[in-house]
Amino acid sequence: MLKLAVMVSGGGTNLQALIDRIEQNKLPGVSIEVVISNNKSAFALERAKKHGIAAMSLSRKDFDNFNLFSESLLHLIDSYQVDLIVLAGCLMIIPNNVVGSYRNRIINIHPALIPSFCGDGFYGLKVHEAVLARGVKVTGATVHFVDEGTDTGPIILQKAVMVEEGDTAELLQRRVMEQAEWEILPEAVRLIAEGKIEIVDNHVKIVK
Ligand code: GRF
Repeated sequence: MLKLAVMVSGGGTNLQALIDRIEQNKLPGVSIEVVISNNKSAFALERAKKHGIAAMSLSRKDFDNFNLFSESLLHLIDSYQVDLIVLAGCLMIIPNNVVGSYRNRIINIHPALIPSFCGDGFYGLKVHEAVLARGVKVTGATVHFVDEGTDTGPIILQKAVMVEEGDTAELLQRRVMEQAEWEILPEAVRLIAEGKIEIVDNHVKIVK
């Protein structure tokens, strides 16, 4: 069994892709134990509740200092005894104590082809606005392991998506989600569940 904690901040379409694959029996042995959001009004929490999944919110502003917040977040995650943390549209910077406790057991979906259009300030629609501003012809999405940096951990999967004439940031975001994010995030979870992911010299090897 691969038990997941999924961390979200917004609409939860990537979470929904995971829920759908599990319910379609396309992710055997995988279960979502808890969905955690830093935004208590995130629609992703409604998606979790609708599918009978524990839905929790925890925000830095609920605590007197960052250390109290990070310890509470780690305790919350630990209480569900999960194997893998999945950041799915999660805008929260994961505290180093969580990264350290779950070394190479946290993955993130980024809506661009890392190392392009990533790092501080590149999230959500801003990524696609930057893609259009630069005039690149191909973009896409990346699933990577999370380390102490921003979008800097070993890359697991990537998928390219064409930028089309007349694209707005919203149209491009939707295409990247539909054609790339909602495909490669569940695929990365499947590979991990099947023990097919190895990290050698900070690079991911997929065992065939
Ligand atoms: C998506 O573009 C995702 O890649 C980014 O946040 C946006 C919303 O994701 N991280 P979701 O619909 O909340 O999964």
